[in-house]
Amino acid sequence: MDFRTQSASQDALAGISADALLLVVGGTALPKGFDAKLAALVQDAIKLGDFEFKAGKVLSLQRAAGVKAPRVVLAASGGTSVKAARAGLATALAQLKGRGAAHAAVAFVGFGPIDEALAEHFVLGASDACYVYRHTKPSAPAAGKLGKLTLLTDKTDTLAAKAAKAGIARGEAIGAGIELARELANRPGNHATPTFLGEQVKQLGRQYGFKVEVLDKKAVEKLGMGSFMSVAQGSDEPLRFIVARYEGAAKTQAPVVLVGKGITFDSGGISLKPGAQMDEMKFDMGGAASVIGTLRAVGELKPKLNLVVLVPSCENMPSGHAVKPGDVVTSMSGQTIENLNTDAEGRLILCDALTYAERFKPAVVVDVATLTGACVIALGGVRSGMYASDDELAADLNSAGERALDPCWRMPLDEEYEEGLKSNFADVANVAGREGGSVTAAKFLQRFASKYRWGHLDIAGTAWKGGGAKGATGRPVGLLTHFVLAQVGKR
Ligand code: BES
Ligand code: MN
Ligand code: ZN
Repeated sequence: MDFRTQSASQDALAGISADALLLVVGGTALPKGFDAKLAALVQDAIKLGDFEFKAGKVLSLQRAAGVKAPRVVLAASGGTSVKAARAGLATALAQLKGRGAAHAAVAFVGFGPIDEALAEHFVLGASDACYVYRHTKPSAPAAGKLGKLTLLTDKTDTLAAKAAKAGIARGEAIGAGIELARELANRPGNHATPTFLGEQVKQLGRQYGFKVEVLDKKAVEKLGMGSFMSVAQGSDEPLRFIVARYEGAAKTQAPVVLVGKGITFDSGGISLKPGAQMDEMKFDMGGAASVIGTLRAVGELKPKLNLVVLVPSCENMPSGHAVKPGDVVTSMSGQTIENLNTDAEGRLILCDALTYAERFKPAVVVDVATLTGACVIALGGVRSGMYASDDELAADLNSAGERALDPCWRMPLDEEYEEGLKSNFADVANVAGREGGSVTAAKFLQRFASKYRWGHLDIAGTAWKGGGAKGATGRPVGLLTHFVLAQVGKR
């Protein structure tokens, strides 16, 4: 998709040349100074009962008198927030789906001057609308002919034009990251193997100049990652531990470290999952996909900081070699772990990655994982579960999520939640009871993250959608990228 900006007079939008003119209207009336010809069309549509200034209302016109663009799409967003603007844009773009327009010009009417945030979400909204998964379904119909989108800014406002350019650049970078994350996560488990993920990151490294190391079983064994290895041992598919480094600041500067859960298929292992929807466990590498997507966005934006991305990746399968309930393994930290449920495997691969992260003397470590069904019950698909070792980090993750429209919600880490993880046979058990399952999983991880500031995102509810719209969302690439950008110059 080709994104541009163009300055235009608010009173001359009817003269804009494009295949389609999209008017996303915020508020409940057209602003003063708005194009008279278009205003008359809108008023007429309201009079006919064909349009209202109400969220979700939309009207599509062809060859409207006095309007240069052959198509006009009018969408009411219901409010003037960036979130409302993006929703209105999505409604308008849905009208163009499968149609002939190749170039659309978009005016956000009644939102005030275009700022960076609005321009960013203009790009992200459009990229989202145009993404089609086709790697294993080349017959999937294209989203449409749309290949070029122009954001119209007010001609009298030079600041807005500048902000629009910056916002578009950020949106394009984050959009590319989201697209990569969706693409990786949507690929079936027999395609997106740990080996494949390693190759993808190597390729990103060549493209953007990252330093990439992909460790195999032998290297992981040498590091003492007994917990990670125990999850992988039931599968014939070889494990990978992926390490990628982006250096945008002096080597002496402590890096931000992102860790992504890379279970490329989670059958549950010997504690086998029920059959229904088990296919969706190909998305269990959504955390890995999102940190790799974020790495790509960072490669595009080149912020002045250091970033390390860690991905422990393997399958969780039952077999004669598989780890069994009751087995005790020794993690890289030296702590022994009793495996009471082989389906609680995410924490077992993450704990060794968290220990490995210590060597970078990080400014902060954030792990991202489709970790618990309990988090889906708690927060659904709207907000990711967020845990943080300090309030400043929690505030940073929270505001990054709000700005990215990729929100999270802070969850507790009280000491009392750790009670259930006690084991008679090891330093810690990998599961507690059913209650507070997302929190007890976080408490398990926290034991391995005591040497640095630590955040954890449980994205089990947000990384993908089920049902008819089954597919990866690319979340939380937006949150993570905003978070990383906001860390520049912090510590
Ligand atoms: N990958 C799953 C978590 C999951 C389940 C994500 C459903 C999205 C939808 C994870 O590995 C898992 O199986 N967790 C168990 C933990 C339990 C055994 C303590 C769960 O949530 O049931
Ligand atoms: Mn599991
Ligand atoms: Zn899992």
